Amino acid sequence: MESSAESKGLLDVDLGDFKTLEQFIIEQEDRFPHSTGAFSRLLRDISLAAKIVNRDMRRAGLIDIYGDTGETNVQGEVQKKMDALAHREFVLALRRGGECCLIGSEEHAEAIPLSTSSAGDGKYIVLLDPLDGSSNIDVNVSVGTIFSIYRLPDGYDKEKPEPDAALQPGTQQVAAGYVVYGSSTMLVYTTGSGVDGFTLDPSIGEFLLSHPQIQTPNRGGIFSVNSGYYHAFDEGLRAYLDWLQEYDPETNRPVKTRYIGSFVSDFHRNLLKGGIYMYPATKSSPEGKLRLMYEANPMAFIVEQAGGRATDGQQRVMEKVPHKLHQRTPLFIGSPDMVQRAEAFLHGDDERVASVSD
Ligand code: AHG
Ligand code: MN
Ligand code: MN
Repeated sequence: MESSAESKGLLDVDLGDFKTLEQFIIEQEDRFPHSTGAFSRLLRDISLAAKIVNRDMRRAGLIDIYGDTGETNVQGEVQKKMDALAHREFVLALRRGGECCLIGSEEHAEAIPLSTSSAGDGKYIVLLDPLDGSSNIDVNVSVGTIFSIYRLPDGYDKEKPEPDAALQPGTQQVAAGYVVYGSSTMLVYTTGSGVDGFTLDPSIGEFLLSHPQIQTPNRGGIFSVNSGYYHAFDEGLRAYLDWLQEYDPETNRPVKTRYIGSFVSDFHRNLLKGGIYMYPATKSSPEGKLRLMYEANPMAFIVEQAGGRATDGQQRVMEKVPHKLHQRTPLFIGSPDMVQRAEAFLHGDDERVASVSD
């Protein structure tokens, strides 16, 4: 017999039939017959830490977590209280879960080995920027977390992994993702079969699949760069920035500029809308500012999986062979046509510039 809810048509109302992150991961893992569930548990641990950081961030003005710790991190940068807190929450969650045997974090000089005697298999390495854009926290602007996941290579002991086990090129990543603590909190990740985005529903404390199979547009109407450093950029890049700002409606120029100063937030916006994010080398920072292992590589994996492109100006970011955990790299990342044109300008190659379609 028809229930009264059915007869009134209430069950036809679209209340949002969303899949949770956990359901999604399990479904993905079921596709691989020999999977042990370890990767699902690792992502569960990461998403739990993200929820805890999110909770603290949402109350940041009310509890004493704004401001600096008074310490500098390994990069010599001022450490915010939230940097330290986010680092701690991710390390605790990964240690508790037992699936990760080695963590590399922006907030710690050396990679941190974890005892794997607890619940899990301890076969993964996680590299992290626990809090990205932290200079924006005190003024209530979106920040994020970035993570990159590798397998412990053969020949290493998971009970005592050498720190250099973390020094793998980005092409070896098994997964990468970020969390943006924005107007809503989203977790976006890839395991190499596209990019999926999940929005946190704070009322039930679950990440729900809201952006399946994200594709970035081939070109977009946004460029993001700290143009305050214009005079420190090399000639090719200055020519590209000038070109973007020329008036030519036929080729949709000038292109808008948007720069939050939180890489995760700038990247997320450009991924969805189409655009290019640049953090180039400057005269005083010839290696650029962003970190290869836990900022550039994970975002490069995501952008490529979404149809985009990431280069350091000379080569594909993910093919760079790392020589240290906190290595920096110049970065040009985003919509493929825009990144290709930037590369042509950087090389001073007029023919290539002309051959990229508008
Ligand atoms: P973090 O907060 O993890 O140190 O990263 C800050 C980075 C990145 O998020 C942002 O895009 C960039 O620094 C901004 O640098 P500038 O202020 O030099 O533009
Ligand atoms: Mn960062
Ligand atoms: Mn950071």
